[in-house]
Amino acid sequence: MERTFVMIKPDGVKRGLIGPIITRFEQKGFHLAAMKLMRIDRALAERHYGEHQDRPFFGELVDFLTSGQVCAMVWEGQNAVANTRAIIGATNPVQASPGTIRADFALDIASNIVHGSDSPESAQREIALFFDGAPALETMYRMTGDGAALNTTH
Ligand code: GTP
Ligand code: MG
Repeated sequence: MERTFVMIKPDGVKRGLIGPIITRFEQKGFHLAAMKLMRIDRALAERHYGEHQDRPFFGELVDFLTSGQVCAMVWEGQNAVANTRAIIGATNPVQASPGTIRADFALDIASNIVHGSDSPESAQREIALFFDGAPALETMYRMTGDGAALNTTH
């Protein structure tokens, strides 16, 4: 079963949208394998979005991601990567289709509520970065999911 990494960004957490966002993935039929609320430091934010390090908005993106708690999640199910990207919607909420998370909850490309991995390879890298890289935090904040399976299944 495919796994993907989804992160509710600080704007989504501050606005109380964790519940509605989780509901959408559950309604679609995905299984929540792991979840934790965490503050991330600049080093983790920069590694997570490393592919964008030369883009003009990179500093702003890292500032934003470290401005409050994020909700890091692993979702699993059929075509999890592509299906969750479809539920999330286009990067710019202006272009996102109605019914997607970004169309329904966001106005601005810089504050677009949620991140989803863009390929199975990205998903594996990001899950390792957020869940395997911080075992103490993971134990503290884990609300559901199976840590052993998460660490050994890719
Ligand atoms: P993520 O799921 O967050 O990775 O978004 P994405 O895959 O739809 O888009 P991409 O990876 O290309 O961009 C990563 C994030 O950078 C986006 O979600 C935006 O928040 C931000 N971003 C992208 N383009 C711009 C831009 O032109 N200006 C600003 N301020 N932010 C941008
Ligand atoms: Mg992306």
